[in-house]
Amino acid sequence: MAIKPVLRMGEPLLLEVAKKVEKFGTPELETLIQDMQETMASLNGAGLAAPQIGVSLQVVIFGIEANMRYPDAEEVPFTILINPVLTLLTEEMEEDWEGCLSVPGLRAMVPRFTRLRYQGVDQQGQPIDRSVNGFHARVVQHECDHLEGILYPMRIEDFSTFGYTEVLFPNQKIIDE
Ligand code: NI
Repeated sequence: MAIKPVLRMGEPLLLEVAKKVEKFGTPELETLIQDMQETMASLNGAGLAAPQIGVSLQVVIFGIEANMRYPDAEEVPFTILINPVLTLLTEEMEEDWEGCLSVPGLRAMVPRFTRLRYQGVDQQGQPIDRSVNGFHARVVQHECDHLEGILYPMRIEDFSTFGYTEVLFPNQKIIDE
């Protein structure tokens, strides 16, 4: 296990559709998840998708403690989510700031659905089934987009909000997710 370099926007692999995980409990999957956790922790990230460290598989991890870079953001439990399926529970969308470890140093307002259900499995193949809203729903949409080859700049509607984090938020320490 190791801290891996995070691929940045422009890398073709980030635009691929990731493959489903077929085998659980393998050393390869265990190593991938440990690498993802170490890499995310080393960068204080809120989430990471396997393609971001060069593995085109449907694995995402996310979690936010109620402190850190999002003073307003609610806590999101640390989750390992494999082969996710999202079901929208509303058509309502709202805009909020997003960043991405693959688009370092930048932020923009991104519209996301406010409520959804996500299903999938954890690293042992045990089912996960949650209905969430707000910031939790936003993080899930952002991470699962990575599995479809979509980066948040492709979701921006108001490009006047797109800018450098240190310019947009000069007095805050905000780290990319
Ligand atoms: Ni991202």
